[in-house]
Amino acid sequence: MALRTIESLGDLRGKRVIVRCDLNVPLDGGTITDDGRIRASLATLRELLDAGARVVAISHLGRPDGKPDPQYSLAPVAIRLAELLDAPVAFAGDTVGADADEAVALLEDGRMTLLENLRFNADETSKDKDDRESFAKQLAGYGEAYVADGFGVVHRKQASVFELAELLPSAAGRLVETELGVLERLTKDPAKPFTVVLGGSKVSDKLGVIDALLPQVDRLLIGGGMLFTFLKAQGYEIGKSLLDEDGLKEARRYLKEAGERGVELVLPTDVVVAERFSADAKHVVAPAHAIEETEFGANGLGLDIGPETATRFAELIASSTTVFWNGPMGVFELAPFAAGTKTVAEALTKVSGLGVVGGGDSAAAIRQLGFTDDQFGHVSTGGGASLEFLEGKKLPGLEVLGWHR
Ligand code: 3PG
Ligand code: MG
Repeated sequence: MALRTIESLGDLRGKRVIVRCDLNVPLDGGTITDDGRIRASLATLRELLDAGARVVAISHLGRPDGKPDPQYSLAPVAIRLAELLDAPVAFAGDTVGADADEAVALLEDGRMTLLENLRFNADETSKDKDDRESFAKQLAGYGEAYVADGFGVVHRKQASVFELAELLPSAAGRLVETELGVLERLTKDPAKPFTVVLGGSKVSDKLGVIDALLPQVDRLLIGGGMLFTFLKAQGYEIGKSLLDEDGLKEARRYLKEAGERGVELVLPTDVVVAERFSADAKHVVAPAHAIEETEFGANGLGLDIGPETATRFAELIASSTTVFWNGPMGVFELAPFAAGTKTVAEALTKVSGLGVVGGGDSAAAIRQLGFTDDQFGHVSTGGGASLEFLEGKKLPGLEVLGWHR
């Protein structure tokens, strides 16, 4: 069945429309370091405001502990939203409470408010459906319709994503429509060779993804924090580099399976090893099998793929017709360890077919490294969501909008 879109909600003039965005942007203190997700949310918000709707925007930010925590406030996001929209955005200091009640009551046609972080309320992410439903009911009181535009959370069965969508007439926003369209191109008969590049530090998250992707792809390139678990699985010593003990067994299995399936599982042949985790740390390039043989011995810390690996990855990417990339290749935030990520990003801009950057971290990385979104086929706002899509998992936030595989 097809995704319901905004058209299905009819004339929205004067109606209160709750828009679930993913405004989960990286913050340094109160400063937004990458506003990509805010920009990605503008199309739907503008369209609804232009249609005369009274927009009640909701979002999470980070993972606060189910209670208010000022470091996760959406207040800086409201300011940035207003700048980008060039329109006032009333910010409510709570999600459901006196402030939110007032902000919603004061809304005029074509105006919007942003409510405080959904995850300041424990029921938003509760495992208990009754908890989530009771919170969703409170939220539903603020709207007559619901638009789901937070693509980055469609894999989460959370109150504002799932239960709320059941309570009101609901439809997908433009961002979710666009993201889904691109992911469907990746899964329905992608043009070959199809290469997936995985990196990032959330090792155990990614191991499951590899399992699901092995049968679908021609080449799987592994960089980022998880590469060390694979090197360890091959029997190499990895010094103080990131290791997922629990993932070791799985990594061994994937190495074996890739061979059996004829998938090219490409691991780094060299890495950048540092004395410690710091931008000014001494560092050298070492063969992947000799991380502990540098001057830092067993204290060596792998922080990026090496230049030989980066060149090999770049060749494999640029010669593919379809590429999906999730997760930085190294600690790109620190300049000496950004080269691998930069080389991979550069190669992705040269893909002849469809090159997709998936995920908040990878998207932030390309922008920080000086690339612009339009150099790529698509820059996705959802990391976990797009991976789970590719894995073939159930996506509650899409199914509740009428979409099924
Ligand atoms: C993300 O950053 O991946 C999305 O905003 C979802 O956040 P979460 O992983 O904390 O649910
Ligand atoms: Mg995430």
